[in-house]
Amino acid sequence: MIIEKVREFVTKSCEDDEVKHLERTLYWIKELKSCANEALKIAALTHDIDRCLKNEGCADDFKKVRHSPNSKYYMEHQKKSARIVSNFLENINADENLIKEVTFLIEHHESGGTPEADVLKDADSLSFFENNAYSILEKFAKLDKETVKEKFDFMFNRISSEKAKNIAKPMYEKLIKKLEEI
Ligand SMILES: [Fe+2]
Ligand SMILES: [Fe+2]
Repeated sequence: MIIEKVREFVTKSCEDDEVKHLERTLYWIKELKSCANEALKIAALTHDIDRCLKNEGCADDFKKVRHSPNSKYYMEHQKKSARIVSNFLENINADENLIKEVTFLIEHHESGGTPEADVLKDADSLSFFENNAYSILEKFAKLDKETVKEKFDFMFNRISSEKAKNIAKPMYEKLIKKLEEI
């Protein structure tokens, strides 16, 4: 199964917390769309792979990034991850159409735009609020509260589906409360 090869690649390439984010994105994909196809599942498991493969300081990135749809950072991040994953899939001789679909989904996982890309974006936000948001809060809230709020708002406001929004709302509100108390 291709997804198992993908999982092996991800586990080898990423740190535990990064794997957790990707696996939980896959979990939420299944919750939001029980009939999700293979491309959507592979994209969920790999969408942030560029962060696993380069040793770039998160602190610098976080501060200089504008956390809004279509910002330069997010555009580059989507493109880089899509390129890495499509190269990997080509190397294991995956089907051409599958590669195209996965590439498109990863290239749009921050902004959405099609029903499938929107599900990926929503699942990504839920996985973010479960885990990543807490490490951002811990690392950056004291240094730059405003940017942390911007990031949380971006990840919440971009959610398309009612179902995902309802699940994310209490998570988001809890985090905002914690942020305000810092
Ligand atoms: Fe991402
Ligand atoms: Fe992500």
